[in-house]
Amino acid sequence: MRRIKIFDTTLRDGEQTPGVNLNAQEKALIAKKLDRMGVDVIEAGFAAASKGDFEAIREISRVVETATVASLARALPGDIDRAWDSIREAKFPRIHTFIATSDIHMKYKLKMTEDEVYKQAVDMVRYAKGKCRDIEFSCEDASRSRREFIYRVLEGVIEAGATVVNIPDTVGYSYPDEFGTLIRDIRNNVPNIERAEISVHCHNDLGLATANAAAAIKAGAHQVECTVNGLGERAGNTALEEIVMLMRVREKELNATTNIASTHIAPTSATVSQLAGIGVQPNKAIVGGNAFAHESGIHQHGVLENATTYEIMTPESVGYSKNKMVFGKHSGKHAFTDKLREMGYDFNREKIDELFKKFKALTDVKKEIFDADIEYLAQGSIKEV
Ligand code: KIV
Ligand code: ZN
Repeated sequence: MRRIKIFDTTLRDGEQTPGVNLNAQEKALIAKKLDRMGVDVIEAGFAAASKGDFEAIREISRVVETATVASLARALPGDIDRAWDSIREAKFPRIHTFIATSDIHMKYKLKMTEDEVYKQAVDMVRYAKGKCRDIEFSCEDASRSRREFIYRVLEGVIEAGATVVNIPDTVGYSYPDEFGTLIRDIRNNVPNIERAEISVHCHNDLGLATANAAAAIKAGAHQVECTVNGLGERAGNTALEEIVMLMRVREKELNATTNIASTHIAPTSATVSQLAGIGVQPNKAIVGGNAFAHESGIHQHGVLENATTYEIMTPESVGYSKNKMVFGKHSGKHAFTDKLREMGYDFNREKIDELFKKFKALTDVKKEIFDADIEYLAQGSIKEV
């Protein structure tokens, strides 16, 4: 079984979610939770972005006990100096430096040629290596870059001392077959690739960030970059909870596992949502309010007989206390009877039939029936007796 490293970038790429701004205290709290959850690398921020971010990274470097702490830097000496200063107190510091390698980015954003980008990437990795042992290098917009150019850049930065090379699908353009092939091609065409770990960093513009990361794992990637609740620029990044639970639920097929204590997932998701001020959509995989809720009678009956009928993982395994029966117009008598019993009512079959009719009538006028509504029906029926 291969152990895939989880690189969490909630505090860097996740914080690039429009409207999110975490202070140093909030970031340190989230970092401690990530550390306890078993994340391998915490990307704490982009030190050159602001004084506040620099201070937050410094604080995180002091409080994180087990994980590597990474600080992002453009491939520029000033950014790299700042990144190093922000993490030098960490037990396991990493400088993460990047430059774009796609024709589109080089032409319109960097206004540089391939040769210039190659030289800057290699020079800056060598410069960063002079400060820090652990260096990650990213080819920004790798999935839209010319293959031969990426091979050349990766070979050069590994020679200059990069310990991890990251392949981002920066604009979420790739699809799983294609992204998996890219990782395989890199493994087969970069002569010194065995000397570095391969990381992947996928964005979710087409809703494929987790699928692309999974394809990369199958193709041999060692590390996945992700964020709690899938936060991030535009449509966000690979969601930590999705990729981790995919490896848990389909461990044999993927032949991959992680170091994550999955019961920490739901509480960490709630903390991040609260501090970031970004609610989690109800139907979000794993951590959405409905991820373990059952509404239809057929489903409720199945789950009450045996939860595996409609649940591929237990709510407890991700840190919830139990699943949730939602009462609405699709709910059946089985779950309704069970609910009455749970509330302490022990009615005979006739009474239950009668109450169930009233319950069904109520569902036609009310979208969701709460416990209080069922209480009301049950108590009314006691008074009638
Ligand atoms: O999406 C991206 O390319 C990035 C890099 C800086 C790794 O976030
Ligand atoms: Zn990104």
